[in-house]
Amino acid sequence: MTDGQEIGKKFAELRKLCQAPADEIRRQKNVLVVSHVDADGLTAAGIICTALDRLNAEYDSFFFRQLDEAALKQVADQGSDLVIFTDLGSGMIKEICELGILAVVADHHKPARSDARPMAHINPHLVGADGATQLSGSGVSFLLASALARGNEDQSALAIVGAVGDLQDMASGHLLGLNRQILEIGSKAGAISFFRDVKLFGKQTRPVFKMLEYSQDPYLPGLSGDEDACIAFLKETGIRLGGEKWRRWIDLCQEEKARVVTAILHKGLRSGISNIKLERLIGEVYILLREREGTELRDASEYSTLLNATARYGHADVGLQVCMGDRDKAFEEAQKLLGQHRQNLVNGLKLVSSKGITPLRSIQYFDAGDAILDTIVGIVAGMSFQMADRSRPILAFARTSQGELKVSARGTQDLVRLGLDLADAMSASARAVGGIGGGHNVAAGATIPPQAKQEFLELVDAAVSRQLTC
Ligand code: C5P
Ligand code: ZN
Repeated sequence: MTDGQEIGKKFAELRKLCQAPADEIRRQKNVLVVSHVDADGLTAAGIICTALDRLNAEYDSFFFRQLDEAALKQVADQGSDLVIFTDLGSGMIKEICELGILAVVADHHKPARSDARPMAHINPHLVGADGATQLSGSGVSFLLASALARGNEDQSALAIVGAVGDLQDMASGHLLGLNRQILEIGSKAGAISFFRDVKLFGKQTRPVFKMLEYSQDPYLPGLSGDEDACIAFLKETGIRLGGEKWRRWIDLCQEEKARVVTAILHKGLRSGISNIKLERLIGEVYILLREREGTELRDASEYSTLLNATARYGHADVGLQVCMGDRDKAFEEAQKLLGQHRQNLVNGLKLVSSKGITPLRSIQYFDAGDAILDTIVGIVAGMSFQMADRSRPILAFARTSQGELKVSARGTQDLVRLGLDLADAMSASARAVGGIGGGHNVAAGATIPPQAKQEFLELVDAAVSRQLTC
C-alpha cells in the first residue's frame, strides 16, 4: 500500500468510529462538552459546540487542565445525558467508564491500556496513526462533527488551528498524514489556504521589524531580541518600514519578501548558523480565508496563540466564544489577554536566563517556583531552547495555586527521532512518586507532590537515558 492509500484507509477507519455514536448524539438534548484548556482543546470544543448548536441541542462546556479524579467527579455531578470529551479522556477510559455515564471520547493523546469501553472512543492511535503529528484533538472533533451533520466543513479551519496549536507542523515544517486530509476538505470548502512562506510569528499583526526581533525558532543571530539591529537590517535591505502605519509582512510584495529572506539567509550563514536551522525559516503556513486580513484570526499560528492567552489564564469561555464566531466583545477581550500573555512570556524567559538551567545526565531543568504561572511554564520551557542545550529535553517546575508541583517537559524533533518519548517518561515517573502525567513524545506534563521533586528528576533522567541509548 502507498503512504497515501494507508492514510486514506486510516482516515476512513476514524470516520467509521465517528459514525457509530452519531445517531445517539443527535438524539441527546442535554450534552456536556468537556475539553482541555489549550488552543487545541478550545478549538476542539468550539467545533463540537457549533455542531451541537446547529442540531439545536442544549449543551454546556467544562475545561480542565487535566482530567483527574476531581475533574471527573465534577463532570459526573453535572448529571448530563451525554458527555463528549474532546482533546482529553483517552488516558482515563477506565475511570470514565466507572462513572456510569454515557460518554464519547474524542482525543489524540496516547490511550491508556484498558478493556473498558465507553459508548465511543475515537483516537488516531486506535487506527495506528500517531496522535502527536498526524491528527490533533480538534481534528478528531472535526471528524465527529462531520459525522453528525453535513455542512460542518467550514469547521475544518479550526481543526487546523488546533493542530498548529499543538505544534503538529513543527517536525517537518508542514502538516502531514491525517491532517492533510482535513486541509484538503478545508481548502475545497474555501475555508483555508496554505502555501510556503516564512514561519516567523506575527506576519498578520506585527510590524516586520518586530516580527524579526521576536523570532525565536529559528533564532536569528544578530536580529532576534535586538530592535535597532532589525530596523537597520531592513533599511540596508531596501525595505520601507512604513509611512503612516508600520508595514507588516502581509504588506510586503513578493519581491520584497524574497529580498528579506535572502538577506536573512546570508546573514545567518555569515554568523555560522546551521543550514538546518535556516531551513526552519521557511515552511507551510495556514490562512483562514474567512477571517479579516491583519487580525490574529487570519493566521493559524497567531490564532492558536490568541486562544492560549485566554485558556491558560482561566478565561477559556472567552476563547470558546471566539472559536464559535464572536468577533466583538469576546474577540476584544482575547486581544487584551494576548497582550498580557506576551508580557508574561518575556518575563518568564528573563527569569530562566537569570536563574540558569541545571543539566543532569540526559535532561536539564529549571524551577520557576511561584514566578511563572504553572499554566504557561511549558510554553516558557519550549522557548528556553533558544538559550538551552538542544541535545537534551528540558523540564520546568512551577508551583500550582493548590501547592502542588507542576512539571512541563519539552523536547526537540531531533531527540524524538533518537527515541525520546516524554509522555512515557513523565507518566511513569509521575505515577512512581504518587503524581499524574502524560502528553506527547515531544511535549508532556505532570503534577507531582512537591517533596518528590528530586526523586522525580532522577526517574525522568534515567528513563530518558534509556530511551536515548536504545
Ligand atoms: O502543561 P503542558 O503544556 O506542559 O502539557 C504538555 C502536554 O502534556 C499537553 O498535551 C498536556 O495535555 C499533557 N499533560 C498530561 N498530563 C499532565 C500534564 C500535561 O497529559 N498531568
Ligand atoms: Zn491536543
